[in-house]
Amino acid sequence: MPTNPYFFGADWNPEQWPDHVQAEDLALMREARVTAATVGVFSWSRLEPSPGLYDFGRLDRVLDGLHEHGIGAVLATPTASPPPWFTQAHPGALAMRRDGVRLVHGSRDTYCVNAPAYRAASLRVATALAERYARHPAVRLWHVHNEYGTWCFCDHCARAFRTWLRERHGTTAALDDAWTADFWSQRYTDWAQVLPPRATQYLGNPAHELDYRRFLSDSMLAAYTEQRDAIKAVAPDAQVTTNFVLGGWVPVDHARWSREVDLVAIDHYPSSLDGTPAQSAFAADAARGWSAAAGYDGRWLLMEHAPAHVTENGVQRRKPPGMLARIALAHLARGSQGAMYFQWRAGSGGAEQWHTAIVGHPGPDTRLYREFRALGETLAGEGRAPSYRSAYKKVPFLTDGPGGAGAEVGEGGSGARAADRRAEADAVAADGEGVAGRGEVAVWFDEVCGWAVVASHLPAPLDYQGVVESWHRALWRRGYPIDVVPPTATLAGYRVLVVPAAYLLTDESARRLDEYAREGGHLVVTYLSGIVDEHLRVRTGGYPGALRDLLGIRVEEFDPLPPGAVITLDTGDLATGWTEHLTAPGAVVLARYPDGRPAVTRREHGAGVAYYVSCALDEAATARVLDGICAAAGSAPILPDLPDGVEAVRAPGGVWLFNHTDEPHEIAGRQLARGAAAELTAE
Ligand code: GLA
Repeated sequence: MPTNPYFFGADWNPEQWPDHVQAEDLALMREARVTAATVGVFSWSRLEPSPGLYDFGRLDRVLDGLHEHGIGAVLATPTASPPPWFTQAHPGALAMRRDGVRLVHGSRDTYCVNAPAYRAASLRVATALAERYARHPAVRLWHVHNEYGTWCFCDHCARAFRTWLRERHGTTAALDDAWTADFWSQRYTDWAQVLPPRATQYLGNPAHELDYRRFLSDSMLAAYTEQRDAIKAVAPDAQVTTNFVLGGWVPVDHARWSREVDLVAIDHYPSSLDGTPAQSAFAADAARGWSAAAGYDGRWLLMEHAPAHVTENGVQRRKPPGMLARIALAHLARGSQGAMYFQWRAGSGGAEQWHTAIVGHPGPDTRLYREFRALGETLAGEGRAPSYRSAYKKVPFLTDGPGGAGAEVGEGGSGARAADRRAEADAVAADGEGVAGRGEVAVWFDEVCGWAVVASHLPAPLDYQGVVESWHRALWRRGYPIDVVPPTATLAGYRVLVVPAAYLLTDESARRLDEYAREGGHLVVTYLSGIVDEHLRVRTGGYPGALRDLLGIRVEEFDPLPPGAVITLDTGDLATGWTEHLTAPGAVVLARYPDGRPAVTRREHGAGVAYYVSCALDEAATARVLDGICAAAGSAPILPDLPDGVEAVRAPGGVWLFNHTDEPHEIAGRQLARGAAAELTAE
């Protein structure tokens, strides 16, 4: 039996192979100490070959095989890919693009989440799976659907959107007000006039667009909870989740969804090889932040990532030797309950036949498989055993499942009902205490704000997540203990809170930021924050309307720079991209533009301090500014003077070091080989 306490494994599609490959795969998984395989993700056309007629034979054999080998199943519902019979019978349930083109079958995710036929068929197949497998001893976790995020603009959506809008706004008059409908003659007199934001002649209405994203998020959430509840109706103790996919194009508010899953799970595909450590840290910190804000203790799961490559501008860059383990361990140190990959065996055909896999086309006799197996041994405690789990109090998923068997693991206990665990977790997280590995410096990340930025026609393009990541990266490089937090997070207790480009700020968020600083926090607000309310209406009277008094400043004009332009502040710091014209009637000026105007300010507020950074600083300047603020707030890097590319993580069991460089380093008296991960201290 594997003794690895983590979710360690991959998406597995044995149905794409003859039976003998399944046997070979299971033997290899066992050899590599795999504990979990995600199965069934896109298997609808096999499970239900014609409407209402199920064929569970293959999945029975897969789950039984996993169980026989002591491997848990993450069992997916297959609803991300309806079969051809469904789309043939219900052409109106296919997704429609913004320009009115109805998509056709042939890829995946081609459905309308608001089409009644799709919802009914999804619920039916999820219920059938639950009835058959809820008590299967291999099943550890349910994985509803896959990467929710499909857009649709069809008439089903139009109807559902109107219902959603009525609930949100009440009357068309209130809608007109919220959407500033007097602009360009958009006043509505009848709900039937309201449509999804389909292709328009020129610029669309930002508030309309933003409400549509919120609506899509809620529509998909309803589809998810419907399936989740069907599973729990059969097996109340079942653990249910879905894999979040990150990115500005995804109309899913993950902070809101996190309360509806039993374990926050994310997929992560960085966009650059060299940028992978920083991007992985950001995604992991965001997942931990969603988990903590939803009332859990910071645990989450890396559900999918690529084993051997990072796709950079369309090119698959190979991960060098050692990177597979190092990145996996860095995720574990940040609270992931495991490292799961896409995918176990590379397909010989199909659209993703060139996606890397643990077992590639050459078979298992590869460096990659050997590295994976070595990681499995490490996680199983053979050799250098990591100790991340010591402070994560609840790791219930790999303990005995409903059927009683499974991989061995510590402390979680199996019987606790999800609701009981949830109540317990709520109590633990009420004050932010009890969140394992909680950082000292928090970075505010609001996906809805990112949607607002995309929907609005700003004076210059702004990559919201890119800006947030740049502040996170500066802190990460310096080795501060960081969290990425959604607006619903508990803010008290963080020494520093950085709020980058929070263009949309609700009254409640503005109040919470004020309270945070007043009660002793060190708040750092950057340019283009607090500008509009939840309906994208500018707060007038001088920017940033929501935070002007708190910051003691008044911005009169935005002055974005042309590409490549650089301004040197009187501190020597460099600004690019964004600048502003402001006065600072209530704040001390820390840095000035060349013409003497304020650029960076500081105001004492109650027991705390509020800083304003009005321009886009380069990374060195960002780090310098943050160092000063963190020092004043009493927060220091986990280890001083880390070389570039060496990462320190304060994990629950102690400090871990990751050397992402090609050279050895000596850190705190300890030799760190190139590419190595090592535990520095154990508590
Ligand atoms: C996501 C999806 C998988 C696969 C991979 C490819 O993780 O969930 O089905 O498409 O991306 O990177």
